[in-house]
Amino acid sequence: MLKVVGIVGSPRVKSNTEYYTQFTLNELEKHGIQTELITLRDKKIHHCTGCYGCIEAKKCTLPKDDFDEVFNKMLEADGILIGSPVYNSSSTALVKALLDRAGFLGRWINNDMKDKSENYQWKGTAFSGKVAAPITVARRAGQNFTFAELLLWMTVNDLMVIGSHYWNVGVAGKGGAVDAHEDLEGESIMQHLAENMAHVIKQLKK
Ligand SMILES: Cc1cc2nc3c(=O)[nH]c(=O)nc-3n(C[C@H](O)[C@H](O)[C@H](O)COP(=O)(O)O)c2cc1C
Repeated sequence: MLKVVGIVGSPRVKSNTEYYTQFTLNELEKHGIQTELITLRDKKIHHCTGCYGCIEAKKCTLPKDDFDEVFNKMLEADGILIGSPVYNSSSTALVKALLDRAGFLGRWINNDMKDKSENYQWKGTAFSGKVAAPITVARRAGQNFTFAELLLWMTVNDLMVIGSHYWNVGVAGKGGAVDAHEDLEGESIMQHLAENMAHVIKQLKK
């Protein structure tokens, strides 16, 4: 069965980002796609230390934490949603820790490091052939930078990006409120995002 995982990078319980991501997953289910929500707030994922151990080992060589569990769920999925609140115009540290490790490992699983005199002819990444979409959530400003940050991760890692009839952004959280359900335009954006994502995944897997 076709599957999409939605990864939520808010450190808060029942957060706005979780609302938009779960909303999108619910819409995907209506299109016959199996889904799973992953909240990073209850995972322990250390940041990448730049040890380059994954290049030889073809796995992350940091001491065991929850990274492998989340990485494997990303690999099993046909589509990946990455949801992040905007923190100072950027994604959260939870998102960054996951994506730095997943992106680097995902590249070196399929490729070998070259020395300076050799050219890279990349053989794809662990994410090749998958689709993805960012969902960012801000009270007021910084959406574009955070959205672009997630897009850049997706496009350097050979994921195909899905859009909607507006950027996949939610506007919520004034005064720390959990009020995403009031953002009806946001819901319509996520509804169409799910429609597009389901359509593309089904075409790719035909
Ligand atoms: C540390 C921190 C930094 C924030 N930075 C921004 C910001 O740059 N721009 C903005 O519009 N909102 C900012 N916010 C507000 C959150 O993005 C907003 O409340 C969002 O809805 C929180 O999402 P969540 O409920 O999924 O955690 C910040 C909140 C926190 C806690």
